[in-house]
Amino acid sequence: MGIRVWLEPQICKAGVDVMKVKFVDPARVYKMIKDELDDAYFEVMSKGDLIDRGQLKSFEENLAKFVGTKYAVGLNSGYDALHMSLRALGIGSGDEVIVPAHTFVATCSAVVNVGATPVLVDVTKDFNIDCERMEKAITKRTKAIIPVHLSGWMADMPRVMEIAKKYKLKVVEDACQSLGSSINGKGAGSWGDTGCWSFYPFKILGGYGDGGAITTNDADIALFARRMRYNGEDRDTGEYNGHGFTCLLDNLQAAFLDVKLRHLPAWIIKRKKLAEFYRQALSDIPDLLLPHYDRPGFDHVYQNYTLRSRQGDDFSEYLKKNGVEVLTQFRKPYYRHNALGLEDKGFPETEALSREVCSLPMNVEITDDEAQYVIDTVRKFYGK
Ligand SMILES: Cc1ncc(COP(=O)(O)O)c(C=O)c1O
Repeated sequence: MGIRVWLEPQICKAGVDVMKVKFVDPARVYKMIKDELDDAYFEVMSKGDLIDRGQLKSFEENLAKFVGTKYAVGLNSGYDALHMSLRALGIGSGDEVIVPAHTFVATCSAVVNVGATPVLVDVTKDFNIDCERMEKAITKRTKAIIPVHLSGWMADMPRVMEIAKKYKLKVVEDACQSLGSSINGKGAGSWGDTGCWSFYPFKILGGYGDGGAITTNDADIALFARRMRYNGEDRDTGEYNGHGFTCLLDNLQAAFLDVKLRHLPAWIIKRKKLAEFYRQALSDIPDLLLPHYDRPGFDHVYQNYTLRSRQGDDFSEYLKKNGVEVLTQFRKPYYRHNALGLEDKGFPETEALSREVCSLPMNVEITDDEAQYVIDTVRKFYGK
């Protein structure tokens, strides 16, 4: 598993060999598919095709096909995808939108920035929104739900859609962390009114800069996003159809993403193998809760391998000190950042997991030896 690229072991102060294992390594991925990326680069540069050209169209078509929707519209970021979705659905002042308490802040900020009120709901043990609590949070002002599919594992979309239908709510899927995952074969980002995607470099499909998209089966939403990403302009007629934004996906990024999307099915298989490697090596440690969930029909693509360690910061700091780059998103939940002006209504599951989360390196560029080093370091922390 993995390309065999040895990193020079470094000697730490205590005189013990320390290998550096990166969380992700975009430069190494570049080397893996250099010819294809270089071809894409030279094609764009030699023609000066920088804004809204064939590469963007091609990537949008391929993304829609991959997700299983009629349309995909390339935008500048995952945040833009969320923001644009809410605007397309006419959500604004006076409306409430349900969001998980445990997510990246952008999910909530998009709601605030369209003038609506975010209503936070706790998550369950799988890090995704608790549907029973979600139903209880619905009021007369609720207009939409934003389920987030965290780390490559989808929220319970059959239940979300059932609730949305019952209360006539819109559904915006924040699928920024779950490209390629599915439930009963139906892809993330194809269930709700829109699916929102981020191509930030750390994502399962990461660009070489920022990027995002929405996917949808609704022609009006696609048209709205296409116009509004370009300051409201209809590119065929030159007519401004509203006050819009400058947020379309850069053509060069689209060219790179189109190349990488071709590799994604094989790369997802690799991620699953690495997850299984971690599971087999670490499941005997009682203080670790590994991200393997037993739900028939749910397909985990492991954008992140986020485990819970009872030892919280002691565990994550030990890994960092020993050269293993890990993420601890999010030690401080976003609703506890005072400047955001959100109310902490008490979210016990979010609070508990926030103290314990730790994402191990999970990518396709890791070598066998590095993956083994990650395992050895974790085991060493637990005296194994
Ligand atoms: C769950 C989630 N939502 C939204 C976003 C926002 O995406 P971006 O950083 O591309 O704006 C991200 C990524 O950072 C994310 O992980």
